[in-house]
Amino acid sequence: MANSLFRLKTIVRGEDQPERYRLARTLSWPHLVALGVGAIVGTGILTLIGVGAGLAGPGVILSFAIAGGICACAALAYAEMATMMPASGSAYTYSYAVLGEVIAWIIGWSLILEYSLVVSTVAVGWSGYAAPLLHASFGFPLELTKGPELQGIVNLPAIFIIAVVAGLLMIGTKESATLNALLVIVKMIALAVFVAVSLPHFDGANLHPFMPFGFPKALAADGAERGIMAAAAIIFFAFYGFDAISTAAEETKNPGRDLAIGIVGSMVACVAIYMLVAVAAVGALSYTKFADSAEPLALILREIGQGGAATFLAGSAVIALPTVLLAFLYGQSRIFFVMARDGMLPESLAKVSARGTPVRITLVTATIVAIIAGILPLKEIAALANAGTLAAFIAVCVCMLVLRHRAPEAPRTFRTPLPWVVGPVGIAGCCYLLFSLPAKTQIWFACWNLAGLAVYFLYARSRAVAGE
Ligand code: ALA
Repeated sequence: MANSLFRLKTIVRGEDQPERYRLARTLSWPHLVALGVGAIVGTGILTLIGVGAGLAGPGVILSFAIAGGICACAALAYAEMATMMPASGSAYTYSYAVLGEVIAWIIGWSLILEYSLVVSTVAVGWSGYAAPLLHASFGFPLELTKGPELQGIVNLPAIFIIAVVAGLLMIGTKESATLNALLVIVKMIALAVFVAVSLPHFDGANLHPFMPFGFPKALAADGAERGIMAAAAIIFFAFYGFDAISTAAEETKNPGRDLAIGIVGSMVACVAIYMLVAVAAVGALSYTKFADSAEPLALILREIGQGGAATFLAGSAVIALPTVLLAFLYGQSRIFFVMARDGMLPESLAKVSARGTPVRITLVTATIVAIIAGILPLKEIAALANAGTLAAFIAVCVCMLVLRHRAPEAPRTFRTPLPWVVGPVGIAGCCYLLFSLPAKTQIWFACWNLAGLAVYFLYARSRAVAGE
């Protein structure tokens, strides 16, 4: 029993899969960097920066640096693993090959949580920027742009945008990736405009006191859990997305080179951009004024008298945020696809259409995430998405270290520098972030995993292909 729980999967290259499970190789590294930046820059920097500032004060800059540093360690481990095992499935696949089936299942289950809830969170964030525009331009009723927690009925724009993105994905990967690259440029220009316009308004007085709620997560006077680390645990949302690139491994033309460039390149670019945006935001306006805003960057621009730039930023967010949805919905359908191909989820879901895209899984996923986006609160969905992601990042760092020990001579196209420093720092950092999430999130995450284990023992374990 113990042995079979930890059975390992042999990685089968995409070409060696039966034809009905093969994905078309259409992507190269510029697509992947665009997919990475497209997946990383989103609701985290555009919306959760306000939530983070409310939790940490101006010290949210430090929260950005901490979350970014931890993500960078995980990104390096990801790049090494993704180039060693250029197969779809990301952290789930690496865990199956290195740590064993039951761990792989838990990680796959965590990835399902991550990808689904990111799509839901970003759709709600998109709606936050789109709703005022829809209301002002077409008189669209605001009760239909907010979930029940905000005294609305249902978040219709969030559901709408998920439907549009799912449709694109079902048409075909390459077309979607090219459109994604264009939208990434729009997003970059919007953030550059934000920095250029708000940085001249930098006022050192806005940075004092720098850490009004201290460093570790602690209960503040109002009963909320605050501090630099509590903010870092939420801000973490802003940094991931590069992992979505590794889910495209089987659709990449030259995975050995392209995956490493895509993962490390997009991560480095985003850390640099975020630090600039965070310093510009916190320096331009007292954090107390934008902490609870649904569109904090636009609000900052309005408050410093730059209404035109604010409208431009909001419009760009509406146009370009769907790139994040695209990357995560894409990643989610691929995780499902690989787990189904392994026999762990119903096989009928894993079929690809004549265009080489898994249409059924995309439909199922889109329906579930649209329902969640329609009714659940943003902050809580984001925190739970982070929990799932942190579990996956820990697993990837562990896989990297175990393989360095077990197979030191195995060919590695990309080698993590200082692996015995980067790996443990990544693992310890992710554990600290997991600990810094709200207690409620930790309980929900534990429940999710218990449910996952039940599904594993009742369904997946006896059907897993590796067990045949
Ligand atoms: N990093 C992505 C975002 O901030 C998930 O939207």
